[in-house]
Amino acid sequence: MNNMPKNRMLKLKTRPVGAVTSDHFELVEEQMPELQEGQILVKVLYLSFDPTQRGWLNDVKSYVPPVQIGEVMRASSVGQVIDSKDSNFVSGDLVQGTFGWQEYAAVNSSTGIMPIQKVPEGIPPTSALSIYGITGLTAFFGMVEIGQPVEGDTVLVSGAAGATGSVAGQIARIKGAKNVIGIAGGAEKCNWVVNEAGFDSCIDYRNEDVAARIAELAPKGIDIYFDNVGGNILEIALAAIAQNARIVMCGAISSGYTMESLPPGPSTLTNLIIQRGRMEGFIVLDYADRFLEAIIALGTWVSEGKIVYQEDIAEGLENCPSTLARLFEGKNLGKQLLKISDLK
Ligand SMILES: NC(=O)c1ccc[n+]([C@@H]2O[C@H](COP(=O)([O-])OP(=O)(O)OC[C@H]3O[C@@H](n4cnc5c(N)ncnc54)[C@H](OP(=O)(O)O)[C@@H]3O)[C@@H](O)[C@H]2O)c1
Repeated sequence: MNNMPKNRMLKLKTRPVGAVTSDHFELVEEQMPELQEGQILVKVLYLSFDPTQRGWLNDVKSYVPPVQIGEVMRASSVGQVIDSKDSNFVSGDLVQGTFGWQEYAAVNSSTGIMPIQKVPEGIPPTSALSIYGITGLTAFFGMVEIGQPVEGDTVLVSGAAGATGSVAGQIARIKGAKNVIGIAGGAEKCNWVVNEAGFDSCIDYRNEDVAARIAELAPKGIDIYFDNVGGNILEIALAAIAQNARIVMCGAISSGYTMESLPPGPSTLTNLIIQRGRMEGFIVLDYADRFLEAIIALGTWVSEGKIVYQEDIAEGLENCPSTLARLFEGKNLGKQLLKISDLK
């Protein structure tokens, strides 16, 4: 172990109040960790970037504990086992876990938000974090279980050029929706949403009147609104729901997930009463025992060409904070990843 390279990592230095920057983290170089009995040593290959990571930096009660000052920043990731004192893993295994913003991790396979798992044979490391990772699974369970699309539905999806939204809209189409409308920022993203992801239309919320465009594209109202953004767009969408609409509360990225105070909730909420609508939140981890079912379904649709997905890959450990910020600045198209190292 002595001739092993050093490990570099980003540790939380101070808690951000607003947007995250590199000032909130410290780049630290340490000796490679000594493997304890039952642990595996993982060389990190790719990191996943998820809006929820910004929420993990707030010192508040949530679905997982906050990252503590001085801790390596938590992140879902894929890596390769390079040493093992766990009989379930051998060197060379491709594994998925919460290895964090670092080059190497010595971990027990049961620790982290999710237990460490081998990446199924044939799945490339980036796909394990994108279409078959948290965002693809969120799109699946959010749309299928909460949205419950039926033949002929009109479906509206915000964050439609993002990792979750782009897949959610395509699943609605597979399940029989006849009119799938996306909302995304900018003409380039809207072009991709329609021409690559196959949505019927896409509203550019930065340059168009969202309420007027929804009225034009969905004159009979919205049956499912898959909400990735919250805020003003949620307020507009609620005003446009059809009878018995389902609102999938997936995320609220427009809040920035910061500790800054937020405006009051949507003024159009009472339309849920008039239209007998249902609005339901969910956390994808609640479906962990059904992930395999979703991965098989997604894999089938990908191989049949019914789902396309995009990956946006940054590089360099030191660029992690600015890569996380990209999600909130709308710079990513599809799943935001960062490459730490190549697969050997
Ligand atoms: N419930 C769960 O278990 C669960 C799990 C995973 C993700 N999520 C949520 O799902 C949502 C999407 O996550 P993702 O990982 O797939 O990210 P993503 O959609 O790939 O990236 C985030 C996108 O959000 C959009 N955005 C940023 N600020 C915005 C604002 N102020 N108003 C409107 N849009 C804004 C940007 O696209 P534009 O350029 O189009 O603005 C950006 O590209 C997030 O809200 C996330 O928290 C929930």
